[in-house]
Amino acid sequence: MSPVATRASGLAVSPIRRMAVGAPDGTVSLGLGEPGWPVPLVARQALAAAGAAEGALPYGPNTSSPELVAAVRDQHAAAHGIPGLSTEQVMVTSGSQAALFALFCAHVEAGSTVLVPDPGFVSYRSLAHLCQARAVGYRLGEGGALDAWQVETALEAHSDVSLVVLNHPANPTGGMASAAALARVAEACARRGVLLVSDEVYRELWVGERPPGLHDTAGVDAGVVLGSVSKAFGAPGLRVGWAVGAAELLAPARVVHNAMTTAPARPSQEAATALLRAADEVLAEARGHVRARWALLARVAPHLLPPDTSGGGRAGFYLWLPLPDGVPPEETTDFALRVRDTSRVTTVPGDAFGPAGAGWLRVSLGGPLEELDEGLARLAPWWKA
Ligand SMILES: Cc1ncc(COP(=O)(O)O)c(C=O)c1O
Repeated sequence: MSPVATRASGLAVSPIRRMAVGAPDGTVSLGLGEPGWPVPLVARQALAAAGAAEGALPYGPNTSSPELVAAVRDQHAAAHGIPGLSTEQVMVTSGSQAALFALFCAHVEAGSTVLVPDPGFVSYRSLAHLCQARAVGYRLGEGGALDAWQVETALEAHSDVSLVVLNHPANPTGGMASAAALARVAEACARRGVLLVSDEVYRELWVGERPPGLHDTAGVDAGVVLGSVSKAFGAPGLRVGWAVGAAELLAPARVVHNAMTTAPARPSQEAATALLRAADEVLAEARGHVRARWALLARVAPHLLPPDTSGGGRAGFYLWLPLPDGVPPEETTDFALRVRDTSRVTTVPGDAFGPAGAGWLRVSLGGPLEELDEGLARLAPWWKA
């Protein structure tokens, strides 16, 4: 058998998927981080129209359809209050995951350091590993909020940082970033000439008011912002995402994305265009779905509700839950498995997201409401009311 290349060895299956393996029959999943509400009608109509069209189904442009690129530009410009955005500042990809892959491959030198949130989305560490770079975690503040001082300190401590990733509202903590923290981090990265990637795929799922983003705080040249139809637009299966930023930063990443997959599937591009063109209604509805989920939690398990400590209220659909009193952080995975096997409900052990996640569980509230209701009923008794 041919040996596994160094860059790929040591990469494991996602811990989220791993929790599902061996789960007893009838287990309810509060593990997967995806919306469980119906895909918006405009997307279904666009998919049906694409399926009904006769004739060839060509590849289309490597940069994706001009209509989709323009729709991303317009939506991003409106959401960030930055008119005058050009299509060269937009890269459409096969999910924001592929945008991350392309940006890492294009900008992370082997042997360099990548600063990632700890706890943070698992792919950041995997991608650093694939680029043969070193992922160094920076700690988050109260409630998972971005703590600019932590990033500044990590930048000071490592002279070889090639890329800094921010994620807000965050997976897994739900933490936010204040405009002041974003401005400080942008300034520190600019001073050092380090690429800043701001993963904002959950941003439009706010409850209360829209949280600040990197571009509306510090301008388009402050870094690359990621978006996606997977979360707020309710369509993860389309596999359409994007990166917006300076054209010269995106250009090499585009070449990587083309080498990997050219562009998302044409019917997906058409459905994504329809979703973006109907953004006002689609996003308002999505926020309704998110509010309903937090309201359900408040009704059936109020003792699990986190305090609003991260500033600007709540966004996204993750509940970041400390282990019950008396369960030590070293037992995070054991506890998650015990809950799964005894009560038939899956969560994700927090240390899957980095060492600072030990002692916590990530509970996804994104799934269908009936499943969430049942899952919370099974989970809640493990904590004292
Ligand atoms: C923080 C974050 N970024 C990016 C992604 C990737 O999303 P997609 O490739 O579906 O756009 C996810 C998916 O869970 C995520 O949680």
